[in-house]
Amino acid sequence: MSKFDNIDFNSLTQADLVYLLGLKGKEQKKLIEKAREVKLKSVGNIVYLRGLIEYSNVCAKNCHYCGIRRDNTTDSKYVLTHDEVLSCAEYAYSKGFGSLAIQSGEISNTNFVNTVESFLKEIKLKTNDGLGVTLSMGEQSEEVFKRWLDAGAHRYLLRVETSNRELYKKLHPNDNLHNFDNRVNTLKLLQKLGYNTGSGVMIGLPFQTLEDLANDLLFLKELNVDMVGMGPYVEHAKTPLYKYKGELLPVSERFELTINMVACLRLLMPNINIAATTAMQAIVKNGREQAIIAGANVIMPNITPLKYRENYLLYKDKPGTKEQIEDSIESLTKSIKGIGHSIGFNERGDSLHFKIRNKIIG
Ligand code: 5AD
Ligand code: SF4
Repeated sequence: MSKFDNIDFNSLTQADLVYLLGLKGKEQKKLIEKAREVKLKSVGNIVYLRGLIEYSNVCAKNCHYCGIRRDNTTDSKYVLTHDEVLSCAEYAYSKGFGSLAIQSGEISNTNFVNTVESFLKEIKLKTNDGLGVTLSMGEQSEEVFKRWLDAGAHRYLLRVETSNRELYKKLHPNDNLHNFDNRVNTLKLLQKLGYNTGSGVMIGLPFQTLEDLANDLLFLKELNVDMVGMGPYVEHAKTPLYKYKGELLPVSERFELTINMVACLRLLMPNINIAATTAMQAIVKNGREQAIIAGANVIMPNITPLKYRENYLLYKDKPGTKEQIEDSIESLTKSIKGIGHSIGFNERGDSLHFKIRNKIIG
């Protein structure tokens, strides 16, 4: 019997996870197969869609890895208008997407908060409350989170980026705006307020070890999140972290590591929603499909108006910047079918974990 066969998958330890994350070849296939089985048993073979709207690339923060950081003034800055957001939402509704994910840099001024609140209310009105809404707009105050929840957002995604506070410090400026404890406390606040709460990490960062990644998985479990979006780190030339380019794993290894992270997370948290993220597709053409096979169950097709997409470059070679919206839905439906899954059209697709956590279902 190999080491793999002796693992107790019901109580995975840090050492087990380090071993599983490092698997390649035949043994990796066993891991993926195991995760696939667990997924099918717990959440089935439905893939939920979130129409992704990149609302604005303006950000007050200056994370060392991110292409839309405050100091990066080479891309032109944009904010979608109220009407543009509404037309994206109506488009998603008419196509049966079931949910939206609205994402932007982190801004906290009154005008921004009011504008988001107002389009959330109108989305609800115009779609007869027929669309789920995930927001991803960084750390905000309790009052703002409450207002946005009342206005119609019910899911919130805030990646912790890494659970290693020393690594966190290396990836961010050392100031109050980029504080690890604040980030974790904000995640707890979101849970307390009643949001479906999501987090996630980047994989293949400079200085990051397999132990760090195993701890990330245990951290997400400990925090009891409802959903996770995680993806490979992809270097961006106009960011300070780019200087460590030579120390990174080859992209193909970063990709395989991400697949293993998805599979391990599915084993650790069978009921949550896991996104097959855009960054996976940036590295490997069928990357999102591979993530679904390994345990993911959410896809976020980009429905941002095309003229803005090339300015929302978190990292290089981001896909979908030139694609036609219609084409990508059609080809997505086909490719999901091709891997034995089907799309949950017209379904919000909240995570089963959230429903159980809140005793909505037993
Ligand atoms: N590579 C991969 N992901 C990135 N993000 C930001 N910059 C990069 C990068 N260079 C991710 C972060 C952030 C989200 C908006 O995008 O995880 O939370
Ligand atoms: Fe802003 Fe998020 Fe990029 Fe940091 S990762 S600079 S908070 S958009």
